[in-house]
Amino acid sequence: MLDQKVNLAGVELKNPIVVPSGTFGFGREYGQFFDLSELGAICVKGLTPQPREGNPAPRIAETPMGILNSVGLQNPGVDAFVAQELPELRRHDVKIIANISGNTPEEYGEMCEKLSAAGVDMIEVNISCPNVKAGGLAYGTRPELAAEVTEVAKRHASVPVMVKLSPNVTDITEIARAVAGAGADALSLINTIRGMRIDVKTRRPILKMNTGGLSGPAVLPVAVRMVWEVHAAVDLPILGMGGVSTGADAAELMLAGATAVAVGTASFADVYAPVRVRDELSALAEEQGLQRVSELTGAVRPWG
Ligand SMILES: Cc1cc2nc3c(=O)[nH]c(=O)nc-3n(C[C@H](O)[C@H](O)[C@H](O)COP(=O)(O)O)c2cc1C
Repeated sequence: MLDQKVNLAGVELKNPIVVPSGTFGFGREYGQFFDLSELGAICVKGLTPQPREGNPAPRIAETPMGILNSVGLQNPGVDAFVAQELPELRRHDVKIIANISGNTPEEYGEMCEKLSAAGVDMIEVNISCPNVKAGGLAYGTRPELAAEVTEVAKRHASVPVMVKLSPNVTDITEIARAVAGAGADALSLINTIRGMRIDVKTRRPILKMNTGGLSGPAVLPVAVRMVWEVHAAVDLPILGMGGVSTGADAAELMLAGATAVAVGTASFADVYAPVRVRDELSALAEEQGLQRVSELTGAVRPWG
């Protein structure tokens, strides 16, 4: 029997499959299709200090092998999450990762305190949202700001802090090093890649915000390359994501250096995708004669 457990910065997941922020809400809808305890962890929709309505519609556009979104952090706010959503999620035997976005380092600090006290298992600091005007991407593209937010989050959190990196940079290892130096316990990558689509008849961008973030199978090779680069650059566990829709895709991210893997956009086409990916991944690991799925992590054999 394959041992599917993985350890993400001290948080033990019963298997390496996570659902990433923004693609799974707070689990209520998907919970009607499968038992949420089947997952390694649930990363909840990005939380902000106050409720947010998000951006005007249309905020999703289809693309070949992916989607472009500009949801803009629609969420009920951190207090409503703690009061209404967390107790529901806690009824399942699954680790809960709270994803947070702030406009200032202080806002990140406040949310870290509240969420640690509320008993989430881990906090994911989103410094890479391409769809909000203030904060958001600015923190994820400038090493000194990324380090400052990480340091404040660490100071206020009593659970492990994972920082979510943006792919919208020239050298992702520069940000990874800055965040590691500021004390992050883990890294997650990649967030969506900025993109744009235009309706050729109306000559209007399809998204009301003009641009959005690309996710889904189209981004997998970018995610694999960036996980590989970050794994070589810093000594922190990585939650890899971006375009995973099969067990083999998940294995690629693990071979590149990921400890655990998130399955996001794939759930929009197949609600069972995270559980299917878990089963395909374990079948693949068993076929290869592994005892533990964690043996895949970083086991790529690069040329030259
Ligand atoms: C509709 C949508 C909403 C998202 N919202 C968030 C969010 O609130 N916070 C965040 O850190 N990432 C958010 N993401 C990014 C995902 O967590 C993930 O990094 C990205 O989609 C790549 O994985 P995938 O290709 O498996 O979807 C969102 C993605 C989508 C498609």
